[in-house]
Amino acid sequence: MADEAIIDPAHDTGEGVRRRDFINIAAVSFAGVGGIAVLVPLISQMSPSADVLAESSTEIDISQIATGQAIKAIFRKQPVFIRNLTPAEIGEAQKVDVASLRDPQSLDDRTKPGKTNWLITMGVCTHLGCVPLGAGEGEVKGEFGGYFCPCHGSSYDTAARIRKGPAPKNLEVPPYEFTSDTVVKIG
Ligand code: FES
Repeated sequence: MADEAIIDPAHDTGEGVRRRDFINIAAVSFAGVGGIAVLVPLISQMSPSADVLAESSTEIDISQIATGQAIKAIFRKQPVFIRNLTPAEIGEAQKVDVASLRDPQSLDDRTKPGKTNWLITMGVCTHLGCVPLGAGEGEVKGEFGGYFCPCHGSSYDTAARIRKGPAPKNLEVPPYEFTSDTVVKIG
């Protein structure tokens, strides 16, 4: 009889209380589950995702970049220019009076010791962020032989230093290191 009273709420007020208790407990349980579901995304947002970690550095094989050639790579979703300077381009950069430059830096300041021919810079104009020309096959390099930004006419020299136009700074040299003679790790 006691079991029947629990099943039929119309005949036992005590059973009605038990049903409400169950409903309340169920509601609390769902709230608990909801709380966990919200918490997990918040925690996962606090740690960098796998693709962000993967992009924090980029390794590039430079063995196929011939003297006088350049390539465009991507580092942290931005273009990077890697250029293998010719002896003439190195000479052009080194004969400039550094003190006369808008952003005074020598080629040595912008390259690694013993690897002056490897000029590695961001491919982002320091004026308003366009991608300068000069790294791709057949692209114009501007009157100073380095890079030319077609957006507002900034010209960079063979050390990617700003020489003419509105850009205030040289193309940025990102942090990088040579992990071997043929591989450079950017970032
Ligand atoms: S963005 Fe390059 S000159 Fe303006």
